[in-house]
Amino acid sequence: MTQTTLSLKDTPQAYGKITRALHWSIAALVAWQFMTMILKVFFGVSPRESAIVGSHGPVGTAVFVLVVIRVIWSVMNAGRRPDHGAGLKRVAVKAGHGILYLVMLIVPLAALLRAFGSGRGFSPFGFQLFPTRETPIAWMVDFGNAVHGELGWVFGVLLLGHIVMVGVHEAMWKDGTMARMAGRRALR
Ligand code: HEM
Repeated sequence: MTQTTLSLKDTPQAYGKITRALHWSIAALVAWQFMTMILKVFFGVSPRESAIVGSHGPVGTAVFVLVVIRVIWSVMNAGRRPDHGAGLKRVAVKAGHGILYLVMLIVPLAALLRAFGSGRGFSPFGFQLFPTRETPIAWMVDFGNAVHGELGWVFGVLLLGHIVMVGVHEAMWKDGTMARMAGRRALR
């Protein structure tokens, strides 16, 4: 049967509206996250002097919520999503996407754990998520310090690899990979 309209749910021909909305909103917010940290780390702009850099924690929290929804939605759509070929290629794509999901969860989670453990309180977008507390929880702060920044940059490298692979699909294999997430060509 030929599918002509984009459905809410995923289909074997193309990702549906909800997956696409989640994918592109997460992509835009994650790009924002790297932009704020590039300003901070490479240009020395502090979160205190710039609301843009200061938005890193709240926006990262939103990313975490969207990623959790995305994981739940992908599980709910398992079995009817576009497939990734067979054999080694399938294993490579599945492993690559699995690692991306994992890192996308751990990076903001480590920062949230650190924010909770610090006891300084955390109120993204004015909503009090963690109240202030007398005693910090050392292991949470240490875990966040050890993991968040480093894995954050690793995540950036993985994302570049993800983008390069889509480019390779488009340029060499011309198999409509991009259209499954961005266009309508894959529907026909
Ligand atoms: C997917 C979401 C996120 C990404 C991709 C991300 C990425 C990064 C990166 C690359 C750095 C630079 C580390 C450095 O070299 O100095 C960083 C730092 C930081 N992030 Fe995030 N972050 C995210 C979410 C969050 C969240 C949710 C919070 C707060 C709860 C947060 C708070 C911080 C803070 C305070 C710093 C500066 C201190 C440090 O380096 O650890 N981030 N982040």
